[in-house]
Amino acid sequence: MRNFLLALVLAASAVLAQDPYGPDHNTTSIVGTWSSGTQQVVPGAGFANPAQEAFTYPKNTGVGYSFSDDGWYELARYRFLANGSHPDCIGGTVVWAHGNYELFDNGSIVLTPLGDGYQQVQSLCADNSNFVQNYNETELFASWRIFTDVTFGPKLHLFQFDGSPVAPLFRLSADPNMLPKQKLRNLAQQVVTTTSDGLVTTETLAARKEEREERRAAPRQWGWPW
Ligand SMILES: *[C@@H]1O[C@H](CO)[C@@H](O)[C@H](O)[C@H]1NC(C)=O
Ligand SMILES: *[C@@H]1O[C@H](CO)[C@@H](O)[C@H](O)[C@H]1NC(C)=O
Ligand SMILES: *[C@@H]1O[C@H](CO)[C@@H](O)[C@H](O)[C@H]1NC(C)=O
Ligand SMILES: *[C@@H]1O[C@H](CO)[C@@H](O)[C@H](O)[C@H]1NC(C)=O
Repeated sequence: MRNFLLALVLAASAVLAQDPYGPDHNTTSIVGTWSSGTQQVVPGAGFANPAQEAFTYPKNTGVGYSFSDDGWYELARYRFLANGSHPDCIGGTVVWAHGNYELFDNGSIVLTPLGDGYQQVQSLCADNSNFVQNYNETELFASWRIFTDVTFGPKLHLFQFDGSPVAPLFRLSADPNMLPKQKLRNLAQQVVTTTSDGLVTTETLAARKEEREERRAAPRQWGWPW
C-alpha cells in the first residue's frame, strides 16, 4: 500500500514537473535544415528568388523548413492540389516565406512571417491560370518532437492544432539553409481580378507586368515539371 501511494505521488509530481523539452522530447536541437519525403524541397537560394518573385521548381513535391538559433525560420513548400469535381484539373502551389519563430513553454511553435512571402498558383484547367500572390500566413503548431531514426537520423514531427501531423521532416543539415534574414521583396500593390465564373484572384503588380511581357513575347510555357 505504501509503495502504491508513493508511486501515485511520484506519478503526480512527474506530471506537474513535466518539462515539454525533456530529454525524450527532442533528441537534437530544432536548429537546422529539414525537408519531407524525398527531401527535394529545401529552403534557401536554390528554391526562391524573392526579388524576382521566382521559384526553381523542385523535382518532387514536399515541404522544407529551416530554423536558426536566433529565432528565424524559412518555409519552402510545393504541393499539388486535386480537384474533386474535375479530376483532370490538377493544380499546384509553390510557397516561400520567412520570419520569426517562437517556442512556447507549453510546447507549441508559432511561425510569424515578415510579410514578404509569396506563392505561385497554377491550375491545369480550361483557364490555365498561373499567378503570383502575396503569402503571409502565421503557422501555429500545437507541439513538435524530434526522434533519431536509426536509418535517417534526426526526424522532426510537427503537429497541427487539430492534432494532425505534418509529414515527418528529415534533417539535411544542422546549419539552417536560408536567405538573408531581412525583407527581400517589395510588397507590390495587389490587383484583384474577378473572372466571369466568379473566381476572385489577387496577384501582385510585378507578376502581372511580367505576365503581360511574356504574353507579348511568346505563348506562356508551363513551368510544371512533368
Ligand atoms: C531540445 O530543444 C530545446 C528547445 O529548443 C533545446 O533547449 C534543447 O537543447 C534541445 N535538446 C537537445 C538534446 O538538443
Ligand atoms: C475545379 O475545377 C473547376 C473547373 O475548372 C473550377 O471551376 C473550380 O474552381 C476548381 N476547384 C478547385 C477547388 O480548384
Ligand atoms: C504579415 O503577418 C504578420 C503576422 O500576422 C503581420 O504582423 C504583418 O503585418 C503581415 N504583413 C503584411 C504585409 O501583411
Ligand atoms: C501555447 O501558448 C501559446 C502562447 O500563449 C498559445 O498561442 C498556444 O495556443 C498554446 N498552445 C496550446 C496547445 O494551447
